[in-house]
Amino acid sequence: MGSQPKLHILLTSEQIEAAVKKLAAAIRKDYQDKHPLLIGVLKGSFMFMADLIRLLDFPLEVEFIRLSSYGRGRESSGKIKVVQGLRSPIKGRDVLVIEDIVDTGLSISFLIDYLQKKKPASLKLCALTDKPSRRQIPVTIDYLGFTVPNKFVVGYGLDWDEKFRYLPDICFIEEEG
Ligand code: IMP
Repeated sequence: MGSQPKLHILLTSEQIEAAVKKLAAAIRKDYQDKHPLLIGVLKGSFMFMADLIRLLDFPLEVEFIRLSSYGRGRESSGKIKVVQGLRSPIKGRDVLVIEDIVDTGLSISFLIDYLQKKKPASLKLCALTDKPSRRQIPVTIDYLGFTVPNKFVVGYGLDWDEKFRYLPDICFIEEEG
């Protein structure tokens, strides 16, 4: 194992909590009478999803989906597959996808296309963070927590090679050299 990378706090747990509250209020307003299906994209969204749905005090259902993208290191190859699919039908449902971060946009656009083919009544996206500087394909984020700079971020569910998901803050990794 190499040396541990240096981490710097970008967003504190207090800032995240405030943003999640705001997102929950906006989602509540739009979905409280719709019995929506919230689909969390694994693994990175698990912490965000857990905090968000605790603030949504109306009937909803929860699902998870897991994608894989084959590529080298941090770079997405754009070849995306569903590796863990949905257990419930989404036809006619109001679906809200919950994502940790939109980076190049390749994964989420693949997922939106995949879900759209299953004919939900509506399909929207909620992302905790957005890194628009790296976008390769346009993505509409209906509910967004934070825009982040072009740095690799970890914590609050986000990982670097499966490490640092447990951090309560979102930190960025200092580039070497
Ligand atoms: P995209 O397909 O390039 O938009 O990448 C989306 C996925 O890549 C996210 O759901 C994350 O799992 C991962 N990802 C992209 N950027 C970061 C980052 O800065 N930190 C941790 N994971 C990231």
